[in-house]
Amino acid sequence: MKKKYLGIGIIGGGFIARFHIRAWVGVRDADILGIFDPDEKRAREAVAMARKLRVGNAKPYKSITEMIADPAIDALWIGAPNYTRVEVMEEIAQAVLKGKGELIGVTCEKPLGRNVKEARRMLELAKKAKLLDGYLENQVFAPAVVRGKEIVWARGAAISGPPYLARAAEEHSGPHMPWFWEGTLQGGGVLNDMMCHSVEEARFMLTPPGAPRNVLKPVSVTAYMNCLKWQEPHYAAILAKNSGGKTDYLKRPAEDFARSLVEYKDKKGKKVIVETTTSWCYIGAGLRLTMELLGPEYSLQINTLDAGLKVFFSRNVMGKEGEDLVEKQNAEIGLMPVVANEETEYGYIAENRHMVQSFLAGKRPEENFSDGVNVTELLMAAYMSAEKSTTIPFPPPGLDTFVPAVAQGTWNPKAK
Ligand SMILES: NC(=O)c1ccc[n+]([C@@H]2O[C@H](COP(=O)([O-])OP(=O)(O)OC[C@H]3O[C@@H](n4cnc5c(N)ncnc54)[C@H](O)[C@@H]3O)[C@@H](O)[C@H]2O)c1
Repeated sequence: MKKKYLGIGIIGGGFIARFHIRAWVGVRDADILGIFDPDEKRAREAVAMARKLRVGNAKPYKSITEMIADPAIDALWIGAPNYTRVEVMEEIAQAVLKGKGELIGVTCEKPLGRNVKEARRMLELAKKAKLLDGYLENQVFAPAVVRGKEIVWARGAAISGPPYLARAAEEHSGPHMPWFWEGTLQGGGVLNDMMCHSVEEARFMLTPPGAPRNVLKPVSVTAYMNCLKWQEPHYAAILAKNSGGKTDYLKRPAEDFARSLVEYKDKKGKKVIVETTTSWCYIGAGLRLTMELLGPEYSLQINTLDAGLKVFFSRNVMGKEGEDLVEKQNAEIGLMPVVANEETEYGYIAENRHMVQSFLAGKRPEENFSDGVNVTELLMAAYMSAEKSTTIPFPPPGLDTFVPAVAQGTWNPKAK
């Protein structure tokens, strides 16, 4: 019998789990009933937040397997750090295959894996355990992206021809937790961490509405990366301090700036282009997501910092630092944009609604682990290109086993 309601368990109770919990106020037919985080304090905080927002009578679990064994839990959301991806998914698959409990589906935060081998393993395990799979790329659910795509294709593309260039950028001043900065733990630097969003939303925009993903075939990838800010001694010292001395950007940096150009061929053999840039060294009000889509007689622009709401505080308002105006906020005074509902604007509400409704309908979500694998393949080709300073025809040989030098802890642009 088909379920009408889902009990959700979240794995990892950190930053992104809190975004999902806040987003859940806009999600129907599912409640957040469980959190697993080895850090019990984090788990308790996430549980308290879910209860306070009345998005589910959540409780903490001692392990992933214990959460799966509870018949109240029907689907899992993976929001643990990148370096735990495969072990988390192995435990999920094992528990389901051994009959410890039943699940309908699993979703996973970006990136699906730190490299192609890991991402493919995630997909393989989901298939083996017969789980529906959702890849949590929130930006393809962002209302401006979704509505913009609908309008541009219905009006501009229908009359003057399809778009040929999508530009996407994600920039902020750097991640909030030390593990993101470690290439070996995270899988790379900003290219892996944030270009995953840009390549996917740009591809989504260029894909005709309703067409399958493979209608656009990647032909080549050209990328560049550098460490522009955080390898400077003053800034490297801040990273070292924030990590209790572990992060050493003088010897073992990761890229804080990267760009890529992905050439695709459409069904008719015509080239279309995705251009992305991404950085951890952007100092503006806070997180800035920009997007452009260009076609023969039209264009579209999105900039999340062009918020409708702005506030101004004079220099006499010396309050405490916060992220209450915008994610990755850099200032509290002057003229500041406010993203009034970040959970909506960045796409988390629509994303979670889509995942829940797909699982309830017994359907594979439109954004799934296969997309996560494709994104990882593009990112790894981008690392290959940046390392070799050359254009890489896609798919390149050796992609399946490639691990970027940044992820091996051996990349250092200053040592060249
Ligand atoms: N979609 C987005 O825009 C977006 C934004 C931020 C983070 N993310 C992704 O979400 C994931 C988590 O990032 P975050 O910012 O929440 O990190 P975080 O460090 O704030 O939180 C991660 C949490 O996972 C817990 N954890 C560690 N090992 C675990 C394990 N084996 N099982 C379960 N939990 C474990 C940690 O204790 C921590 O509380 C990352 O993969 C990141 O790339 C996505």
